[in-house]
Amino acid sequence: MSVETFNIGYKNADVYKEMLPPHYYGGTEDTDLVAELLEEIHGPADGRPRDLRALDLGCGPGRASWPLARYGSLHGADKSEGMIERFRSAFPAAEATVGDTERVVADLLAEGRAGSYDLVGSFWSLNYPLLECFEETSADGVVSVGDPEAGLVRARRIVDGLTRLLTADGHLVMLFFDADSAEQRLVTELWERIAPFPGTGRDYTWRIVEDVLLRAEREGRGTLDVRRLAGVAVAEDAAAAREWFRVGHLNTFPGLVDDPEVIARIDAFVAGHTAEDGRVMIPSGVRLVHFRAGAAAADHLPAAAE
Ligand SMILES: C[S@@+](CC[C@H](N)C(=O)[O-])C[C@H]1O[C@@H](n2cnc3c(N)ncnc32)[C@H](O)[C@@H]1O
Repeated sequence: MSVETFNIGYKNADVYKEMLPPHYYGGTEDTDLVAELLEEIHGPADGRPRDLRALDLGCGPGRASWPLARYGSLHGADKSEGMIERFRSAFPAAEATVGDTERVVADLLAEGRAGSYDLVGSFWSLNYPLLECFEETSADGVVSVGDPEAGLVRARRIVDGLTRLLTADGHLVMLFFDADSAEQRLVTELWERIAPFPGTGRDYTWRIVEDVLLRAEREGRGTLDVRRLAGVAVAEDAAAAREWFRVGHLNTFPGLVDDPEVIARIDAFVAGHTAEDGRVMIPSGVRLVHFRAGAAAADHLPAAAE
């Protein structure tokens, strides 16, 4: 395994598309969860004015951006140039930014764009910039970036920044991985061969997100709803499932994907989740996060009682 291929699944949009198995939660694919939530919030996109401003952070190739784009103008940001190139061809009218989420959020706020997005989304993407506040991973290994308290301040600032970008009645919608799923427990076990996760462990970044959004709620700046959903990632066969772990979860990190014990562990997991038709049903989990800025108690009344 060469150094050049490290993290290739998140640099190259074709590799990403090829390796990513569809994820279903209660019969609904992940991007449709977002579309359905936006329909609950704003009603069906068809037939309504496309007048909302939306930001997708860590948009990748734009795979999960379409539910946002249906409601108005779209701005996508991702640190991978390859991903943003694909996002641009998928959404030619959109604003597109190559940049790290921490930097992008800070720059938008510094440019006076606080309070300017009706919708902010981040789908399977916010974990990365939060983790990077504590550690950096390269093909050579995982290196701590310094003082954990300073990392926590940075991570909190990112999440808080997302709420500051919202209009007074804006909505932050996220898909955030669930560290307790069988899939993620295996990924955690494998990465911890290299280095322990910071803070409370693999769930630390989620705890930071929840903590910051609950603080915002306590300050009267909005309300937080979180749905924890169990589901399945469906790989079409054992080879596809192995590729998902190697490229998607282990980032083709040489110290792991070339380790015979790691390969054996993945093979055993895949064998244990292979269905009769040969597909591999990987137990997955997601949190569907919805922070609603400026929410008032009256927003919860049924239509007839308004
Ligand atoms: C799992 S993909 C999700 C892409 C897309 N949201 C989707 O649902 O298909 C994660 C994305 O986060 C991006 N990413 C990773 N670290 C990032 C960071 N620090 N800042 C911005 N984007 C980052 C990767 O380049 C990748 O496109």
